[in-house]
Amino acid sequence: SEYELILTETRGRVGHITLNRPEALNALNRQLMREIVSAGRAYDADPDIGAIVITGSAKAFAAGADIKEMAERDYVDMYLDDPFAEWSEFSRLRTPVVAAVAGFALGGGCELAMMCDIILAADTARFGQPEIKLGVIPGMGGTQRLPRAVGRYKAAELVLTGRTMDAEEAERAGLVSRVVPADELLAEAAATAETIASMSLPVVYAAKEALQAAEETVLAEGLRFEKQAFTATFALDDQTEGMRAFRDKRSPDFGHR
Ligand code: HXC
Repeated sequence: SEYELILTETRGRVGHITLNRPEALNALNRQLMREIVSAGRAYDADPDIGAIVITGSAKAFAAGADIKEMAERDYVDMYLDDPFAEWSEFSRLRTPVVAAVAGFALGGGCELAMMCDIILAADTARFGQPEIKLGVIPGMGGTQRLPRAVGRYKAAELVLTGRTMDAEEAERAGLVSRVVPADELLAEAAATAETIASMSLPVVYAAKEALQAAEETVLAEGLRFEKQAFTATFALDDQTEGMRAFRDKRSPDFGHR
């Protein structure tokens, strides 16, 4: 395989990415980040892939950015290098990404999960932004995406104290889509991704893009975007097929190979 720190596997129309740096609890060093982004882009470019699952190990989804790699760096170095810039490509993938989180999702690990469209959590999952304890703040979206997910007061408590929360609290707070027993996590994530991948690909892209508009724009602008994108689905054969299939009481054929 072209990758050293991740495993990739295509099953049907779903691309799977497994972070595989167990000795460091999947801490996101430069190479691991590059491999994740590169695998995500390759799946995104493949029209036979309709959804992506990203997961870690039973112990850790990812324990954050690699602290040892950052420890001796200084301001100018970080400013010129902009080491986390590539993540914006991951968060802009058009293919929906399901994060399957077991164990630690801390710092950059929590932020990586929040770049995904759906977060399924094992009951063993722990989420948090403990950067403050290291004398830094979140740098991959934590101060922006966490308040949008859980509200400003819970986000502020987590970011300012570094406290972590378990899966149940994360679900109550709105950070996770659903909590499942740990031994069912991967099957649930695969099933969720397969369901998405069975839909019309251009319609799935449009739905993801409209959902992203909800995060990035004000309501009036988001509603305008939705109306355009919704109306555009009526230009697709998949709309005709989907609605005729309903009327004819059969499953739609969206033309997947
Ligand atoms: C580098 C890490 C790491 C990390 C764990 N390891 N997290 N290495 N960067 N983020 C390494 C440990 O050093 C150790 O290596 C091995 O993984 C196992 O970890 P342990 O600590 O021995 O495991 P455990 O006692 O079970 O504790 C698990 C843990 C703890 C609670 C998750 O590892 C932890 O607190 N990790 C750091 C979490 C964190 O602060 N994340 C935010 C990072 S900053 P050795 O070789 O010693 O055995 C961040 C910033 C984002 O993400 C962008 C802005 C800067």
